[in-house]
Order: sequence, then C-alpha cells, then structure tokens
Amino acid sequence: MSRAWIASPGAPLRGELAVPGDKSISHRAIMLGAIAEGTTRIEGFLEGEDTRATAAIFRRLGVRIEAPSDGVRIVRGVGLHGLQPADGPLDCGNAGTAMRLLAGLLAGQRFDSLLVGDASLSARPMRRVIEPLAAMGAVIEAEDGRAPLRIRGGQPLRGIDYTLPVASAQVKSALLLAGLYADGETHVREPHPTRDYSERMLAAFGASCAFVPGEAAILGGFPLQARDVQVPADFSSAAFFIVAASVVPGSELLLRRVGMNPRRTGLLHVLRAMGADIVALHPGEQGGEPVADLRVRHAPLRGIEVPAQHVPDMIDEFPALFVAAACAEGETVVRGAAELRVKESDRIATMAAGLRVLGIRVDEAPDGATITGGPLQGGEVDAHGDHRIAMSLCVAAQVAAGAVRITDVDNVATSFPGFDDLARGAGFGLRAA
Ligand code: S3P
Repeated sequence: MSRAWIASPGAPLRGELAVPGDKSISHRAIMLGAIAEGTTRIEGFLEGEDTRATAAIFRRLGVRIEAPSDGVRIVRGVGLHGLQPADGPLDCGNAGTAMRLLAGLLAGQRFDSLLVGDASLSARPMRRVIEPLAAMGAVIEAEDGRAPLRIRGGQPLRGIDYTLPVASAQVKSALLLAGLYADGETHVREPHPTRDYSERMLAAFGASCAFVPGEAAILGGFPLQARDVQVPADFSSAAFFIVAASVVPGSELLLRRVGMNPRRTGLLHVLRAMGADIVALHPGEQGGEPVADLRVRHAPLRGIEVPAQHVPDMIDEFPALFVAAACAEGETVVRGAAELRVKESDRIATMAAGLRVLGIRVDEAPDGATITGGPLQGGEVDAHGDHRIAMSLCVAAQVAAGAVRITDVDNVATSFPGFDDLARGAGFGLRAA
C-alpha cells in the first residue's frame, strides 16, 4: 500500500528555509567522479532515492563511494576504463536521468550491462537515446523502445554530429558521455538550449568539451581529472515553496542559496509576469553555479499565455505552475509542452485530473492546457506515483476550502526527502493519512 497525505490550509508561510541539493548535478557528480582519475568530494549531494540509485549503480560497477555524512560523498574514481562489470541488472528506480545518461556512459564500456527501472521508468521513451547512440556504433536492445535496456559492451564508438528532435538535456548528456569513449568529435545541437550541467562539469573535469547555449561538442579519448563539486539547492524543489508563498495570503518566505542557472529558472519569469512578488537577494556563486536567496511574498496572480521560449527552462515546474494558474484570476495558457506527457507521469493529464477534482476548470491540449483560475475545494486526488504531482497538489491544498487527500505520494523521496517536515515547518497543513 502506498502512502497518502491529508493536506489542508495551515498558517501563512513564514521564515527561512533551505531545500536539498540539485538532482541533476548530484547525478552527474557521481558519474563523472566515478570515471575520473583521483578522488571527488561532493558536498550538498541530494540524498534522494534517484541520486542514491546512481551511486548504488556505480558501487556495483566497482567504484568506492563513501558517505561520511549526510549530503557528502567521496568518490574514488577508477578512470575512463576502470569500471567493472556488475553481476546483475543495474536498477535506476524512478530516475530517467540515471537511465538515459548511463545508457551513453555504459555504451562505451568493454562489458555488457542491463539497465532496469520501476514501472513508471519502464514506460518512458528510450528510443530518443538508443537511436543516436546506435548511430555512434552502440548496440542497445530494448523491447518497444523501453527499459530494460541491454547494452552490449566492446563496441567501438565514433563521434557524430546530431541535432536533437526534442530539447532534452538527458539525451544531450547521454551522447556527450558516450562521446568520451568515441573516436573523434561528438557534436550535439538542440532545438532550444537545455540545462548545461554536463557540459560545465565535463569541462571542469578537464574533458575536451566546448559549448554555447544550444550546442555542445566533445572530443573522445581524453581522461577526466577528479575535482570537488559543491551542489547548490535544487530550483525545482524550491519551486513548490515559491508557488506556495505566492498563493497563500500573508506569506513571506526566504529560500536560501537556490541554484539560479538560467536554464532552470523559467518559472520565475512566468510567475513574475503573472504578478508574483519574488526578489532575488545576495546573488553569488556556488560550485560554479549562480545562486541567490529568494524572498517570496504573497501577491494576487493573473493568468497569462506562457511564452513558448520559457518552456524548456521550466520543464519540471509545470505541475507547480498549474497550481499558480488555478489560483490566478483568468486563464493561463500552456502550449509547446508535449514533453510533459512523458515525464514520471503524463503531467498534463495527472494535473488536469487533480485540479478538476478540486473544482478547477482545465482544458487539455495535446501539448499543454488552459487553466481557468477559481476557488479550490477539498477532495481526493491521485499523485500517480509522481513526486512533483504529489508536492504540487499539496501546495494547491493550502488554499482549498476543504481537506485534500493525496494518494500515492511515496515517490516524493526520489527528489525531495524531508519535504513534509520542511513544509510543515514553514506553515503547511500536512499530515500522513
Ligand atoms: C534532466 C533533464 C530533464 C528534466 C529531468 C532532469 C537532467 O529531462 O525533466 O528532471 O538532469 O538532465 P529531459 O532531458 O527529458 O527534458
């Protein structure tokens, strides 16, 4: 039986809080640390199930990874060619980032690997990585383009010049990681620029990697040198509190040292255009990434048409944006976001279903939705095992007229362990059902 929450309005959200480390950066720090020469110390590592799955996989591939304290990992790199075959399937759990990036990395090894995942991950499209990797010479078998992925080792890889059909940092990263093992240059072009953590970290680890927004290239055969990684707080986790403080009357929250990479912060532009009161204070840098404190105060929101150019920069924030839209006056129109249908759940359908139960009108389109703001009521909603849906519906419940029972919330721990305690501490009405 999966867990459920009962969420209902609590107090205005007040005080300061720090959300956990960035998921994308934590995955990549383990992966690059593992295949670098030397020891990588990671601070601010996300203790989520997704990123722990990645660390567990590299341990099975023969990498020593120590966890001296919460949020710290010491990775004893084995070099580009030092990984050892595992004695069984490698379980990525719920983590699309783990599976897609590992498909690229493991395609370049001399041994075979089998990547498996949970039911949600096993339903997600993998052809988007299999096809370009095959063009590089990789041999990956997958029934119907889905996990499990059987990766045949010992295949010589060659660099390709590839234009992604959909903007995806995971696919781009898979090709760059395979490119480390390929003969010649691997060049990846994107229809819209996506998060560039792989490029930045590869360059910082000494790879021969060049990049500008929307384009990245790597030369194969160069070893990586270990270096320490400081992981900033995950903007996507902060997003739930940003929206909650915006919609709960009387709120004023300070979110400390949030990662502000421009490829992640599209939600800020959109919320501000809706009338939100969000101020970035004390801008600085942490581990080569821009960070800032975000002060968020309640403000009345009005619906807008979300500009298409922001979509890739807020791809994980649409569930939270749907809640802001439900609380806004008028219509909010989202288009050009068909990718939401192949995330941990079909996020257009699951958010539409949840918000309709709460009394909100949502008209679905194949690539988005039109949400008409209005008063929210209580009811029973299903998170469908999707962490971001669970947390977004919990935010919606903070302004509902009655209690909201949210089922299937276990996977919140994949990206945001401790969300419930942190949320309660800030003023949320939230308890286990
Ligand atoms: C991620 C890229 C995005 C995002 C995911 C993490 C990454 O996925 O949705 O949560 O770490 O590269 P896509 O590449 O499928 O857009």
